[in-house]
Amino acid sequence: MKEDLIQKLHDLRVSNTLPMHMPGHKRNPTSAPYGIPYSSDITEIDGFDNLHSPEGVIRGIELKAASLWAADEAFISVNGATALIQSAILSSTVRGDKILIASNCHISVWHALEIGGLKPVIAEPGTKEEYPFVLQIDPETIRTALRTDPDIRAVVITSPTYEGIMSDTAAIHKITSDAGVILIVDEAHGAHLGVKDQTLFPASASGDIVIKSVHKTLNAPTQTAVMLIRGDRADKRLIRHYLSINESTSPSYLLMAGLEHALNTADTDLLYKNARAGRDSLGKLEHLKLFACDGYDISKFVILTEGYISGFDLADLLRKEFLIEIEAAFPTYIIAMTGTGDTAASIKRFTDAILAIDSSLSERIYAAGTSELKPVPRRSKLPVEKAVKNPSVSVTFDEAAGAVSAEYLFAYPPGIPLLIPGQEITEELIGIIEDMTAAGSSLKTEPYRTWDGTLLKVDTDARHKV
Ligand SMILES: Cc1ncc(COP(=O)(O)O)c(C=O)c1O
Repeated sequence: MKEDLIQKLHDLRVSNTLPMHMPGHKRNPTSAPYGIPYSSDITEIDGFDNLHSPEGVIRGIELKAASLWAADEAFISVNGATALIQSAILSSTVRGDKILIASNCHISVWHALEIGGLKPVIAEPGTKEEYPFVLQIDPETIRTALRTDPDIRAVVITSPTYEGIMSDTAAIHKITSDAGVILIVDEAHGAHLGVKDQTLFPASASGDIVIKSVHKTLNAPTQTAVMLIRGDRADKRLIRHYLSINESTSPSYLLMAGLEHALNTADTDLLYKNARAGRDSLGKLEHLKLFACDGYDISKFVILTEGYISGFDLADLLRKEFLIEIEAAFPTYIIAMTGTGDTAASIKRFTDAILAIDSSLSERIYAAGTSELKPVPRRSKLPVEKAVKNPSVSVTFDEAAGAVSAEYLFAYPPGIPLLIPGQEITEELIGIIEDMTAAGSSLKTEPYRTWDGTLLKVDTDARHKV
């Protein structure tokens, strides 16, 4: 059947579906700025500044962002946090440099390594037996890695993570600063942290460069993001250069106006109160469990299914019985996101639905309390670019052990790769991929092909090698 996007968006608008996912404005008409339809869609006409050399109204948005998050400088993006992450990494390294990255970094970080010809050194975040996702990065992990490998030029970590886990970035920043290494924090999921004059959420991350996807939790349209600079370790001239490379030469004024609106209206104290009220209600859960730990972003509702239902079935029930669309489902948990577009009523609608489902559960369908989470083994055999560009051949799991991957393989969300090009495909990794597919995770490949359960290996026998 041929589907029409405009019709589908219309159907969604009139369907009363509750979005418990990003963007943070939650499609709430009161979250939107006045007058940004086509009548405001312009290009760089006189008086409207230029994103790539901003001196007027666009520079004003940057200054507003710097002030809102108490940074020394800010750059904006209408190509998401993705363009900012890549510009931050490319401006901080040269081809062949080593870069320390947390293993749970987003695909945009791995892409930057490919583009920049960088050598990754991997830092593993902590885990706990009872949780199916990784936790904080221990500052000591960073200290040890920098001591062991003094050639490392930059460090990239994610805080908060997709599940809302926040690391001690102040301690990590002290360690990287003492070592003279730049710290880039992917704070894509923490636009609501550290907003000026708002007192309830904790501070924004500490780092030389901190990147926020404003659209994820605030009243900003999808694709809008901000890079904050603190101190003088980041090279602002090179950052502008890489932003010019990574951002459109026709940046959307609708998106930039929406971003400005989000900065003007960032009421994160209200977001905190709504999220807190939701969490209080979810305290009544008897079977499912609301995840919480020290250093946790309360705006995320991460609900562990505790063996009573799979995360995918829970998401299906919410969609089919309650017209609620969540952010992400995994075998043993779901993530629902709150944002500044939520209201007390929208949060109550979600918590009522979860409580109703919870009361209908009675028997465990699998043993709860043990995580199947295993650190993904990563042994690089070939530079990423070579692995992507060399001839490749697809192989079954049985034939794959010991081969070198020619592609990225990841579950999206969260977009954290299981395989990166050039990585050795080990027996252990094949086991992890088999477990994930058996549990219902849908996997994606890059460079894109429809994943058919085979792996793509570099064809070492091919005659024309890069
Ligand atoms: C941790 C993390 N970093 C970066 C990004 C990229 O952000 P954007 O979609 O704004 O480009 C995402 C996207 O979901 C993410 O989850």
